[in-house]
Amino acid sequence: MNYTRMVIEKEAPEEYGYDRIRYNLSESSIADQKLSDIGLSLPDLTLFYGEHRGDKELRALIAAQDAGISPDDVLVTAGAAGALFIISTSLLSASDHLVVIRPNYATNIETPRAIGCAISFVDLAFEDGFAIDVEAIKAAIRPDTRLISVTCPHNPTGTMMSRADLDALVALADASACHLLVDETYRDLSYGTRLPSAASLSPRAISVSSLSKAFGIPGIRICWLVTRDAALQETFLAAKEQIGICGSVIDEAIARGMLERRDTFLATLLPEMAKRRDIVQVWIDREPLVDWVRPEGGGVGFPRLNVEPDFDLDRFYAKLLESHGTYVGSGHWFEMPKRFFRVGFGWPAEAELRGGLDAISAALRG
Ligand SMILES: Cc1ncc(COP(=O)(O)O)c(C=O)c1O
Repeated sequence: MNYTRMVIEKEAPEEYGYDRIRYNLSESSIADQKLSDIGLSLPDLTLFYGEHRGDKELRALIAAQDAGISPDDVLVTAGAAGALFIISTSLLSASDHLVVIRPNYATNIETPRAIGCAISFVDLAFEDGFAIDVEAIKAAIRPDTRLISVTCPHNPTGTMMSRADLDALVALADASACHLLVDETYRDLSYGTRLPSAASLSPRAISVSSLSKAFGIPGIRICWLVTRDAALQETFLAAKEQIGICGSVIDEAIARGMLERRDTFLATLLPEMAKRRDIVQVWIDREPLVDWVRPEGGGVGFPRLNVEPDFDLDRFYAKLLESHGTYVGSGHWFEMPKRFFRVGFGWPAEAELRGGLDAISAALRG
């Protein structure tokens, strides 16, 4: 493994310093929750080694979300980041090839790179509404392809695959005898129809999801991966055991409490998030220097600046932060031109979101 720190993590707001940012539009989750916000308090837990796959009740709550998934198909991991690491290091070696839809969450690219895999990128384009092109993905498959890696709802664009495209990718993985990884971290933040988890559609599909984004509790580092391939799940479990044996008993207890409240929590959250997205939409409608593809899921969008080629983008981002206290995720976090930036509309309070959007308009002109 050849590790390099990812730009998105080096420049993360928590690394830069939350106290130096006034309008934080760089986050990709909903607002961070306190235990009291979700009506939880910690019971007097026995702090033993937990079940290696993850607490049984927790896995049952996760499995119950999709038809055909059993608790044994679920492995609880330390963050979606941990799940993605386990999947890449278990499935891939330096002589393997994978197809990655880009832009993407950085770990989906960096871990295969650290392993030394050959990667074919299928790039999404603003002009196509950042929609995936199944034919282009098919064309990128080689005899040594082990994995197709896609994120839906997508980070950073907020776009979603159609059900037909998801089915087509599952069929492609089946026909090519490779695996399909769908990073479904934002699935509970779907504004229209929520897609089924890919793992419920085929034993060749692996789903990853997390409590970090839609539930605003990234500090407990609870996520899961799902596969119906029992032998593969055994390998993933072996990786988890070698990394950390089991998860944190405390984290898993909080996660269980959160998922027991899931439906009530999401019933309040989803209309609020759709309202936030509309606040950005109204700003974009009256801001000629910014366009976007309206997100259909998640808490982020990936606007494009309509500026001349000689516009000084580095100066813009510096001024935005230093003079206006506003932080967004510049395109380079996603191997995209700096003309694009990720705006997180779910994390800031409404007034902070509005203040940050106005600051972008001001920084574009000042
Ligand atoms: C698409 C996607 N996958 C995975 C992660 C990692 O999330 P966590 O490790 O907090 O569950 C993120 C975080 O930004 C993400 O956006």
